[in-house]
Amino acid sequence: KEGAGKDPSAPAAAEPWKVGAYLSLSGAETQFGIETKEGIELAVDEVNKKGGVKGRPVKVFYEDNKSNPQETNNKVLQLVTRDKVVALLGEVASSRSTIGGIVANKHKIPMITSSATAPEVTQIGPFVFRVCFTDDTQGQMGAEFVVKTMGKKRIGILYASDDVYSSGLATQFRDAAKKLGGEIVVEKSFIKTETNFTTYINEIRDAKPELVYAPIYYNAMVPIARQAKAAGMPGSMFVGGDGWDAETLLQDAGEEMEGAYFTNHYAPDVPWPNAQAFLKAYKERFKRDPSSLSSLGYDSAQLLFDAMGRAKGDTPESIRDAIAETKNFAGATGTITIDPNRNADKSIVIVQIKNKKFTYFAAVNDKAQK
Ligand code: PHE
Repeated sequence: KEGAGKDPSAPAAAEPWKVGAYLSLSGAETQFGIETKEGIELAVDEVNKKGGVKGRPVKVFYEDNKSNPQETNNKVLQLVTRDKVVALLGEVASSRSTIGGIVANKHKIPMITSSATAPEVTQIGPFVFRVCFTDDTQGQMGAEFVVKTMGKKRIGILYASDDVYSSGLATQFRDAAKKLGGEIVVEKSFIKTETNFTTYINEIRDAKPELVYAPIYYNAMVPIARQAKAAGMPGSMFVGGDGWDAETLLQDAGEEMEGAYFTNHYAPDVPWPNAQAFLKAYKERFKRDPSSLSSLGYDSAQLLFDAMGRAKGDTPESIRDAIAETKNFAGATGTITIDPNRNADKSIVIVQIKNKKFTYFAAVNDKAQK
């Protein structure tokens, strides 16, 4: 009624679900956070357009951890204690997901990391989940690709020693490659703050490997690709992991990296039906191809909303239980079943960099995508 203030008989506006997302929206790995956030935003819009979850809209509280460990701890604590979120999404990197996971698990708030692949992350405890594959599988598949598919035996490795993802994946790869008959002829590591890699590159080149496995992030791979090219090593000599997947790599070193392969979660031209629906929606909104981070961000949010809808109650504990029971969830990055260790056993895509684009080459560890 006009001018009469609130009509007491009208139904109260449904209280929104509060979900927290902590991401690297500034600092060294900004691109990771931004791309993930885009995927989450798309998922939130889609669920709210359908009337929300159990009739209540979803509201996401985003926090920027500045790509920094201490900030991660502070921001996740804020989301949990001040904002009282019922669930958390994040982080991209394994190192920061470990920090956030410890806080989430302690406060019994379920957390789903979209893309942290280090095995340690979900081992934190019963409240920590992921929608991506783990690095044991990724390292194994990378080694099989290098030794069996490419037929390379003399292998070099270059990684960041102070990053849990990079050093962990290097270890998984090294063990698997040796078992398959590969020989590690040279191995170099750097720390994340370094920007000049020429000494390592020269030492690697002089050991004459046929190929170099570089499980590092895009922000290190860009200068490495440039400096390697100047030292006479083309980017196609490198094979990487999912940490390469950011637009910036293509923009800043696409030419140098032409022909290189890496293991990944997704490629824009991956022939899976669910991926195509996501791709179309993403392209309409953002006017470019999504990265695997956007796709995984989207899947982490969609899977969470699906679990919230199935949960017996609306408490963090009941949402946790529903996430744990997820089976054959149709995600943009493949069909996701959460296993008893709170991981997702999934297909891995081999991507090739072609004409400054991430191009689908093959699927391995194939889980018969529906
Ligand atoms: N898997 C990486 C990690 O665990 C993060 C990442 C995923 C980076 C996908 C880029 C693309 O740290």
